[in-house]
Amino acid sequence: MLKSVKVAILGYGTVGGGVAQVIDANHDSILQKTGLDLEVRYILDLRDFPGDVNEHKVVHDIDVILKDPEVTVCCETMGGKRPAYDFSRRALEAGKSVCSSNKELVEAFGPELLQIASAHHCSYLFEASVGGGIPIIHNILNCLTQEKIGSVQGILNGTTNYMLTRMADEGADYETVLQEAQRLGYAEKNPEADVEGHDSGRKIAILASLVFGKTVKYDKIHVEGISSLTAADMAYARKLGCSVKLLGKASERVSRISAIVAPFLVKAGQPLYMVDDVFNAIVLHGNMLGDTMYYGAGAGRRPTASAVVSDIITAGLHEGSTAYCPWEPEEADLVPFEETENAFFVRIGTADQEQARNVFGAEKFITLPQMENECGFVTGRLKEGQFEEQFLALKHRISFIRMDA
Ligand code: HSE
Repeated sequence: MLKSVKVAILGYGTVGGGVAQVIDANHDSILQKTGLDLEVRYILDLRDFPGDVNEHKVVHDIDVILKDPEVTVCCETMGGKRPAYDFSRRALEAGKSVCSSNKELVEAFGPELLQIASAHHCSYLFEASVGGGIPIIHNILNCLTQEKIGSVQGILNGTTNYMLTRMADEGADYETVLQEAQRLGYAEKNPEADVEGHDSGRKIAILASLVFGKTVKYDKIHVEGISSLTAADMAYARKLGCSVKLLGKASERVSRISAIVAPFLVKAGQPLYMVDDVFNAIVLHGNMLGDTMYYGAGAGRRPTASAVVSDIITAGLHEGSTAYCPWEPEEADLVPFEETENAFFVRIGTADQEQARNVFGAEKFITLPQMENECGFVTGRLKEGQFEEQFLALKHRISFIRMDA
């Protein structure tokens, strides 16, 4: 049976504009497949858009949308916490489902907004907040409910993955690839959120919360970015048969959760090894299923908007009820970072070789012809706290990168 779904887009920027485009381009096939007749009724923005095909739909007052009983879905594609939080909350309180691409808001207020949605028989959905166009959240919630998921990890930021790929392929240094990423429009003028790992941190916090059911706060996760990586690190990685990837990881063991964002050396043959350029990929381990990987465009106007529209369809199909999302406000029990375990690739001055043998049991040292007075070695698995102490005791320490298990 045909059902009309009137949509308001809050924020007509890259993603919001993309939502209007996706609905326009695929309206008929969505109708044919789902019976939902999607229509963008309003666009909320501070700006006007003279000449735009949707110019006549632009309003500047959220109340116009909230007071229209025919609007059942709002897409929050504004970004930032305010006023996105207030608009989302008020829309949900009015019984209108909210579909968000805003990872900052979802990470900070997800459980609260989910509860408000449930109390008002509508849905808070946020497929586009992680992995751009990759249908990862829908899969976690709808296709993997039967699994006990022990770990989730992935390449969650397209900009840094592009930069690491260029550094590895061209031997280019960090500054050069950052400028290239900015020129291509991947990295912002202020690239901190991407390159220092904050964007990946928010995304792994959302994924971990969904997978483990309790809230994993981004600001409790140990986060390192890629800004201290060098062309030499990439050359060592190649020699080790690895690629360097900025990974977000979370795992659960005896009801305690470990989470980290940092660059890792990923061995050839591992599923994330070959994920290059701006692509994202997420690997989940289920107790019955084993590993599954989800791969695709992690950013960009159309892929992200496509994910928002998939949420509009979910909201339309669940009208009058709340789509399943078991994310409790209670905070998860996180293992203190110093107690989590990793193996490390360590670079040192050759003068420290003896100490590395004694302290870390290092046997095999790796050298690069172009780096005369230094070498590297791989440690066994160590607690982070213990590793830090031993690393800092090395007089000629240079740097380290964690090994992906
Ligand atoms: N800056 C993000 C990225 C955009 O590069 O992946 C998508 O969240």
